[in-house]
Amino acid sequence: MIHTRLFSRCFLPQSFKLGGGCHGDAFRAISSMPEPCQSSPISDGDSCDFDWDSLGFGLMPTDYMYIMKCAIDENFERGQISRYGNIELSPSAGVLNYGQGLFEGLKAYRKDDGGLLLFRPHENALRMRTGADRMCMPSPTVEQFVDAVKQTTIANRRWVPPPGKGSLYLRPLLIGTGPILGLAPSPEYTFLVFASPVRNYFREGSAPLNLYVENEFDRASRGGTGGVKSISNYAPVLKAITRAKSRGFSDVLYLDSVNKRDVEEVSSCNIFIVKGNVISTPATHGTILPGVTRKSIIEIARDRGYEVEERAINVEEVFDAREVFCTGTAVGVAPVGSITCMDRRIEYQTGAETTCQELYSTLVGIQTGTTEDKMGWTVEIC
Ligand code: COI
Repeated sequence: MIHTRLFSRCFLPQSFKLGGGCHGDAFRAISSMPEPCQSSPISDGDSCDFDWDSLGFGLMPTDYMYIMKCAIDENFERGQISRYGNIELSPSAGVLNYGQGLFEGLKAYRKDDGGLLLFRPHENALRMRTGADRMCMPSPTVEQFVDAVKQTTIANRRWVPPPGKGSLYLRPLLIGTGPILGLAPSPEYTFLVFASPVRNYFREGSAPLNLYVENEFDRASRGGTGGVKSISNYAPVLKAITRAKSRGFSDVLYLDSVNKRDVEEVSSCNIFIVKGNVISTPATHGTILPGVTRKSIIEIARDRGYEVEERAINVEEVFDAREVFCTGTAVGVAPVGSITCMDRRIEYQTGAETTCQELYSTLVGIQTGTTEDKMGWTVEIC
C-alpha cells in the first residue's frame, strides 16, 4: 500500500482505506470507509489558540475532512465527515498511475459578527462537473459538492481565521481511487474535501509580483486540459516556476503553445491588463482556466463602469499596459509590479489609487460581508 502523507496537528493521524480492492473488486473498498463522526454538524469549538499573524499559504492541518465514494457507473452517495488523517491507496489507483484527478479551491471567510461566508461555491461545483466530464469521471452533484464544503467548514470552524487575518481554504478533490492497470477510467472514485487556514499565497505578501514570461515551457495546449482544473496541469509547470524563482521572480506568465505570441495565464492564477478605462483578460477557449475570481472581477469591473474585454492578448500589448494584475482563489487579486520577457523588463503602476486596488477592495468587502452582496454570491453557513 502507498500512504499519502497528510499531517494532523490537533489529533493523531488516522489511516483510512480508499479504493484498492484486490482483483478489481473496487467496491469492497466502500466497506473500508473511515469511521464516520457520530453527530453532524460537528465542531471542536469556535476558536483556536493560534498565532494567526504567522499564516502564509502552507498546509495547516485541520480537524476534519469529508469523504464520499462511488463506482464508475454509479452516483456518489453516503458522504461523511471524518477525522482528518492519512488516506490509503492501492499502488494501482487510477490517480497515481494515470493522473485521473481534479481539484478545486474555494474559501470561507469569518465576518465581523463571527458568522461564516463561503464565496460562490456553486461555481466551483459546476467547474468540477465540467472537469469530471473531460477527465472521464463521475462527479458529485452541485448540491452534494456545496453540502460537503459546508460540512467541512462547519466541522473546522475554529480554523477560520478572524476577520482580516486570512481565510479557510477548502480543497475539494475528485480522484480515481480504483485499481487499474491498462489505460482506462478507474473503476472507483473518491470525492474528498480538506481544509487549511491560509493568508497570502506569495512570499511577497501583498507586495507587487515580478513575473517572468516563459518561452520554453507551455502550460496548456489546444485540445488538452488547460481549461479544467486537472491535477495534471500543475506538475508540468513546477520546473518553470522553480527556475523563475531561483532568478528572483515571483511566478511565470505562459504564452500560447502554438505561436508563443499571446499571453495565457500565470501558474496559479489568471491575468488582467488595464489601459485607460479598459480592462482586458485572455478569453477562455480551452487552454485557460475559467477562474471564479476572474469571473467575479469581470462582473465587479463592469458594474463599476469599466469596459471589460475577453480576447486574445498579444504579449506586446502587455508592455504598454498601465496596470497588470492577477486573480485566483489562492492568490486573490495581486498587483504585478513588473514583467520580464527575455531581456526586456517593464514596470507597472501599483499602489493605493489603482484599478487593481479598487477591484480588490470591492471583492474582499463582498467576500467578508462588509460590502453589500448585490450579486448574491456569498453563502452564509452559520
Ligand atoms: C487556487 O487558486 O485555488 C488554486 O487552485 C491554485 C493553486 C495552485 C494553489
